[in-house]
Order: sequence, then C-alpha cells, then structure tokens
Amino acid sequence: MANGISQTKALQIQDGIYAVGAAQKDRAEFHGYSVSRGVTYNAYLLRGNNGKYTLIDTVLNECASQLMERISSVTEPSNIEAVIINHTEPDHSSALPEVLKACNPVIYATAAASKFLCSMYGVCNAQTVKSGDEITIGGRIYKFLATPMVHWPDNMVTYLPSEQILFSNDAFGQHYAASEAIDTLCDLKAALEEATHYFANIVMPYRAPTLKALQAAASLPIKTIAPSHGVIWTKHIPDIINLYTELCGNAQTAATLVFDSMWGGTAQRAKEAADELNKSYSDIRTFDLRKDPLSNVMASLATSKHVCIGSPTYNGFPTPHISTLIAEIEALKPPVIEYSLFGTFGWGGGASKKLAEKLDSLGLKKVFDLTRA
Ligand code: FEO
Repeated sequence: MANGISQTKALQIQDGIYAVGAAQKDRAEFHGYSVSRGVTYNAYLLRGNNGKYTLIDTVLNECASQLMERISSVTEPSNIEAVIINHTEPDHSSALPEVLKACNPVIYATAAASKFLCSMYGVCNAQTVKSGDEITIGGRIYKFLATPMVHWPDNMVTYLPSEQILFSNDAFGQHYAASEAIDTLCDLKAALEEATHYFANIVMPYRAPTLKALQAAASLPIKTIAPSHGVIWTKHIPDIINLYTELCGNAQTAATLVFDSMWGGTAQRAKEAADELNKSYSDIRTFDLRKDPLSNVMASLATSKHVCIGSPTYNGFPTPHISTLIAEIEALKPPVIEYSLFGTFGWGGGASKKLAEKLDSLGLKKVFDLTRA
C-alpha cells in the first residue's frame, strides 16, 4: 500500500476503501484565509460485495480530473452505483456534475443538502436521509448522523459500523497537503496546527453545534476518522478529539496581542502593552498585521481569553487592517471574553473610542486602554 498523495492513483486505506480526492499543494488561500501547507479535498470510494462502488463526497470542480483519474485507477467510474454527499459546499460537491457524466448513481443527502444540490447543479433527484438512518449498499451498512452547522445547515457525517470509520467531512479537517496522507506517517504537530487553523477560520462560529456533534460521535466506536480535508486520523484520534474538545470549550487561558502601525508609534507601544498583559497572562502571542496573516491571528484567538489590540488613528477610525480584524472577530466569534487597547491618537484620535464601542457591543469586557497621543 502506498501512502503518499498521488495526483492519479487512489490510496487504499482499508480493504476495498480508497481515498480518491484531490490536492492543490501550491494553493495559498482558501475561503479567504491564508494557508501555507496546501489544500486537499478528500473523497472516498468503497467497493461493495456486488462489484459496484459507493463514492463519499466529491471535490472542487477545478480538480474534477484528479478525482476521475483516481477513481479510474480503481474501477470504471460507470461502476459507481451510489454517491453520498455529506455537505454541498462547492469544495466537496462541485465535481458532482462531472461524476454524473460517467455514471447514474443513487445520491444520498440530507434534506437541506438535497435542496442545495437541486439549486446549485440542477441535480434534483437525491434521496433524502436523516439522522440515524442506516442504508445497505453493496453489502455495506452506512449510518448517517446529521451535524447541522458543522459547517452549513446541510452537513452530515457518514459512519461505517463494520470498519468503524467516520467520514467526518469538514470536522477534524485541516488544510494540509501532506506527502503522507495518514496521521501516523505525517508531521503530527503540523497536522494539529493546521486543524487548529482550519477550526478557527471555518468552524469556530459554530462551536456549540460542533460540541453537540462531538458528543454524538463519542457514542460510536471509531477506529478511523476520514475527513474531507487533510490527513486521515487513526492512531492519533485522541489527539484530534482532545484538540476539538479544547477548542469548543471555554477554558482558554492565553492572550493574543495584535497591532497595526503606520509610522511605528503603535508598534513601539506593543512592548508596553505586553508588559501590562504579563501581569495576568503567561502565554502571550504577538502579531503584527503588516507581516502576519490574519488567519494566524484567528487561530491564536481560538485558544485565547484576551485580545489586546493596538491601532493608530486613521482619519478618525482604526486602520483598515484593524477594521478587518474586528470584522473577523465579529464573524468568527472567537472565545475571547476580555479586551485591551493601545495605540496613538494621531492628530485627532478616535480609533480607540470606536474599537471600545464595537468590542463592548460584542460583550467583551475592557481591562485597560493605553492609547495616548
Ligand atoms: Fe470544506 Fe464547508 O466545506
């Protein structure tokens, strides 16, 4: 069994079960956030006892040829008798029309996903399944568990009781086009770091439904978690489950210090702000938005209790970099509960007042403001 990602060959992960997705190793952006280790879209092909196949999820349409080549390395695509769509976001569903040119499968999806498939691709004949449903295809039992809002309303995961594999779609995924696609063979630290980045930039607004899904999945015996992005979890399932439990919880202890500076004044005051933070926090991570990607800041905020923001005043407002940070805090809802501010007034001031108003409205508690002329 080969373990490396091949652009053309399927990776057998168990007897008759193949990873057939696609990789974009040089892709630097996904969903508007910066990625540094490439992107994968995992799909899985399962052989039934009748010689026919079931496909779980597809890939981004621009990678459809990779998917079809990897399927073809196992079987003629016309042998696909069923397609399970766990989630219709285009990174997993937009190659479906290409798949359907080669076969005429029964498509299984949640009610919400069936509706989206019809509106997105004109594929209006999906068979609707609901949480707890079990179906048998080619002698294999597939069990479905709805996981709404992890990451869209249409999400579900698919469980294979015979092999104890959870096809978890976005959950437990990472943007990590590792040369070895299994957790035991890849750089575990990198995989967990990318799982944190993925969670923070994609899943974080839905921490409550994710925790609920984690609790539901905990009742299943699981030997393999096969997500739709990144490496497959086997030996290190406890590591990724513990990470998600931590990220979904409210026991964050770190502080994230993030600033922008136009002429160096706010940057100079970052040290003063860090000294103040140091009175209460031992784990302080510092980011300069002129150098560090915003997605790295969001990953830090996923494990932070406190956000300390430094901004100059820019025509009466925070700088555009800081305004974007605030928009991301509002959209991605990190678990921070406290904030502090520092920066410069410039010739008129206004940034810290506007930041305080916004952060107060988001329910954060102000600890200090070192902004001055
Ligand atoms: Fe990987 Fe929500 O799509």
